[in-house]
Amino acid sequence: MEELLDPGLGQVRVFLMHDDNKRRKLKYNLGHRRLLTFGGAYSHHIRAVAEAGRRHGIETIGVIRGEEHLPLNPSLAYAKACGMTLTYLDRASYRLKHTEEVQARLRARWGEDVAILPEGGSNAAAVRGCAELPGEIDVPYDVVCCPVGTGGTLAGISAGLPEGKRAIGFAVLKGAGFLAGEVARLQREAYARTWSNWTLNLDYHFGGYAKTTPALDGFIAKYRVEGVYVAKMLFGILDLARQGTFTPGTRVVAVVTGQPSTPVARWDAPTGFDSGEPR
Ligand SMILES: Cc1ncc(COP(=O)(O)O)c(C=O)c1O
Repeated sequence: MEELLDPGLGQVRVFLMHDDNKRRKLKYNLGHRRLLTFGGAYSHHIRAVAEAGRRHGIETIGVIRGEEHLPLNPSLAYAKACGMTLTYLDRASYRLKHTEEVQARLRARWGEDVAILPEGGSNAAAVRGCAELPGEIDVPYDVVCCPVGTGGTLAGISAGLPEGKRAIGFAVLKGAGFLAGEVARLQREAYARTWSNWTLNLDYHFGGYAKTTPALDGFIAKYRVEGVYVAKMLFGILDLARQGTFTPGTRVVAVVTGQPSTPVARWDAPTGFDSGEPR
């Protein structure tokens, strides 16, 4: 595992664990013939589901927020090249996508046997997949940090932590206080209990989902990390370390869930994505 070296860290040590949380979230969600899920036009989750569908012979349907824009952006073109059927939902219906009414409409159209995965892929099965992450950490540590979009990754990491360790999630959305409730709900759904070994930090959203600031842009350029999720978490960890929030000697494992320029770097890949190359 690579160690992040920055003079601002003082006596706090930060290890970078490159790990694809999307694969973990899908691992226990793949036992279906047909899988439908939701996402924005640039959703990492849509791409990951399309790719898993192709690899495991599952028919996939991506319900995309808003209207169709042609030509498809690289992200959606990749999903389509993987065999995903793309369909679009107007923004008002999209907001209601997890309601009974919209789901009934989707089932009527795509078949009663279609498995519906929530946006971001966070459900009980996803939490169980992410709970396997702490068992694979191969350095001594005290804290695991991850970025938070829908809460499934944090819920799972927390559930899988050994006694005495803790997790911190960094929300990448603005006004994301509701996510604390989501993390607890997901843990209850997966394990019929919650854990108190985690906290959710709301201070490093930089204006909201996929928003940025000159300071964050500078950070992304300096560390060459993915900007929507990973940069916000790492910025937060470094900032908290500088403020002395961690006890000296604390060992932090930061879960690096995305790569720089993920959509572009992966776009010529439909032929190569089976090769087992690291993501
Ligand atoms: C690269 C990356 N990191 C982190 C997350 C956040 O995970 P979660 O939605 O489980 O909070 C996502 C969203 O799935 C993601 O695509």
